[in-house]
Amino acid sequence: MELPQASYGYEMCLSEKFWCPEFSLEAVIALQSHFEAHDTDIFVINMPKTGTTWFKSLLYTLLNRCDNHHLSNTPLQTYSPHELISSLEIMIYTKDKTPDLTKIPPPRLFSTHLPYASLPESVKNSKCKIIYVTRNPFDTFVSSWLYYSKLEKLDIHTSRDDYFDKFCQGRSLYGPFFDHVVGYWKESLERPQKVLFLKYEDLKEDGALQLKRVGEFVEHPFSKQEEEQGVVQGIINLCSIGSLKEMEVNKKGKCDPDFDNKSFFRKGVVGDWVNYLTPPMVERLTKIMDENFNGSGLSF
Ligand code: A3P
Repeated sequence: MELPQASYGYEMCLSEKFWCPEFSLEAVIALQSHFEAHDTDIFVINMPKTGTTWFKSLLYTLLNRCDNHHLSNTPLQTYSPHELISSLEIMIYTKDKTPDLTKIPPPRLFSTHLPYASLPESVKNSKCKIIYVTRNPFDTFVSSWLYYSKLEKLDIHTSRDDYFDKFCQGRSLYGPFFDHVVGYWKESLERPQKVLFLKYEDLKEDGALQLKRVGEFVEHPFSKQEEEQGVVQGIINLCSIGSLKEMEVNKKGKCDPDFDNKSFFRKGVVGDWVNYLTPPMVERLTKIMDENFNGSGLSF
């Protein structure tokens, strides 16, 4: 595989056509060769900064609830959502580690940022389930620029305008953003039993409705009794940004030597982009959105 050095510490995997961070390149290659999906696996997949941390906390809590389990006893108090559902290419596979994952009891929960086309074949061909979470590109751009410009591991010290230009060209981590989103969107239409497509904005607007969809999708639906007892709302409250931010593990912990847990929580609102993007930027990104989503039925 030819790997030309790109700017900002990430490289294009030419054969796959996505921008892979240099630090996870060997892990990506290893997992593509070795990872074997089980039919009972559940994957959380999204582009960075689209609500990964939030959704992991929701899914983990949904799957691990039980009648007598008080939501305040949650493992979220002790572990970062990224430890409860770990990223294949960032935490599970590393350049020195090809782990044995066969002993993990079902359902195994994993996350990845890989585009659909680059998933291991067994993930595409088995009966495992994928929940894809995305977010409007304006807020995704702002959240990622603010985050990456502080992340030493990536060595991205650049201006908003320069990073915006790269984002528009598709040169964002695991991007192009639009190819990533459209790839999973199409799969969700063709195979709704396999891929559930969720938007950050919908989770914000009606978390209960979306969480119930997730419960049905992973075959762990909420009972009438649970709904009446407020279990759905309890999970939403527990996983709200205000609640997660206040947990000691997210104030002081690290889920990896390079990632402070607190860095995953900023404002957590829809539409913060108005504070960062100029009218010409909005116009340019809107045009790209229109071109990419045209006729797909997808909009933000
Ligand atoms: P902002 O930078 O716009 O605030 P990821 O987890 O994929 O890295 O995404 C991070 C984004 O999700 C950040 O967005 C962060 O604040 C937001 N976020 C984290 N936890 C959240 C929660 N519980 N509810 C809503 N948004 C959350």
